[in-house]
Amino acid sequence: MIMEPGGPLRGRTRVPGDKSISHRVLMLAALADGESTIHGLSDGGDVACTRAIVEALGARVDAEEDPDGRQVLRISGGRLGPAQSDLDVGNSGTGIRLLAGMLAGLGFASTLDGDASIRRRPMERVLEPLRAMGASVTGSGDGGALAPLAIDGGGLRGIEYRLPMASAQVKGCVLFAGLSADGPTTVVEDQPSRAHTEELMAATGIDVERTHDNGLDRVTVLPGRPTPFVHDVAGDPSQAAFWAVGASILPGSEVVIENVYAGPARSGFAAVLARMGADLFHDPVTSDLTVRAPSGGVLSATTVRADEVPGLVDEVPVLAVAAACADGETVFEGVGELRVKESDRLATVESELGRMGVDVRAEGDRLVVRGRAGSQLRGASVDAHNDHRIAMACAVAALVADGPTTIDGWGAVATSYPMFPDHRATLLAGGIGV
Ligand code: S3P
Repeated sequence: MIMEPGGPLRGRTRVPGDKSISHRVLMLAALADGESTIHGLSDGGDVACTRAIVEALGARVDAEEDPDGRQVLRISGGRLGPAQSDLDVGNSGTGIRLLAGMLAGLGFASTLDGDASIRRRPMERVLEPLRAMGASVTGSGDGGALAPLAIDGGGLRGIEYRLPMASAQVKGCVLFAGLSADGPTTVVEDQPSRAHTEELMAATGIDVERTHDNGLDRVTVLPGRPTPFVHDVAGDPSQAAFWAVGASILPGSEVVIENVYAGPARSGFAAVLARMGADLFHDPVTSDLTVRAPSGGVLSATTVRADEVPGLVDEVPVLAVAAACADGETVFEGVGELRVKESDRLATVESELGRMGVDVRAEGDRLVVRGRAGSQLRGASVDAHNDHRIAMACAVAALVADGPTTIDGWGAVATSYPMFPDHRATLLAGGIGV
């Protein structure tokens, strides 16, 4: 994909339905005995894999479009059984980890597998708590901690589990398993991660209790099944972040991103951009997010503390682009988890933004960017490293480059945001979004 420089960004756009929510509502609908309706599911490849998996397990899914062109799915669930073949999560770490929890509780055997990137990503973080619940789960590779995962489901006990790292995927895995355990299951977090699993379970009739004391967050679920539900999936803040950064670095920009999820641990990027001088407003009534370039035209550097990271973990690559266009040294502290995402994002941010002339270094679990307000980046040839967020962060950086940027491996973007180039074109044309 060749991206020309351009700007400012103006007008309105949608973003895909939130990816984290989309995986979870598909799974909850598959478990619910009856018909659920989901509006505005993510149109990315990751969620398509989870949809195909719940269908392979016996859920019936019918799709249509509403008058606004948004997808409406009707899902009949509640009678899941073994699939004919291995279940393919594609590139989705969220998919494999959440589904491992759900399948560990269902009384039949399954094998979860994915692409080459999935086969490299750490699975011990879900195998360990699932085994503590009594699950029979076998990993592959050296040490048996990689996908494919063979799961012989059923016979789980409820446990209390303290997360060794901030991870909504691991929390979600344990809570999904907890739906089929013999008693309550509690997850304890030192740092709150995104709350979609517990929010959606509570909204679909599961008995969920959340408490906060002594600096710890605790979520307890009781065994049970969701009741059929209707859910309208809000826009994905992680995708909105690309346009928010684009608008922040291009003087004269003003974008409105429609109906962006506003719940906990997802909007950290907006707080960071505001601190850097951008003008953001997340409307509490419509959930539309409006972003304008800073009035004085200049972003300034900031320090992103480790305790902020769970609330913006996926946005670090594009925030590094904002940092490249801000005066001073921006430090992202405690971002070691980025090393085990779709790519080693500390290494890929360093190498690919580096090729575009950004002074960026990964130092242990920190990322340091030395920026200059108003600086032009270099149009270059970069590699997505099979990572959608690296590709899109480079595409935003390309807007302020001195010439065209060629992004190899752009295909990875289809996992989460197939319409990205169309929405980019619309905002560059200052028009109304698709
Ligand atoms: C996700 C959680 C995050 C995030 C991922 C989606 C989720 O991972 O990076 O894109 O939906 O639970 P961790 O919380 O495991 O870091």
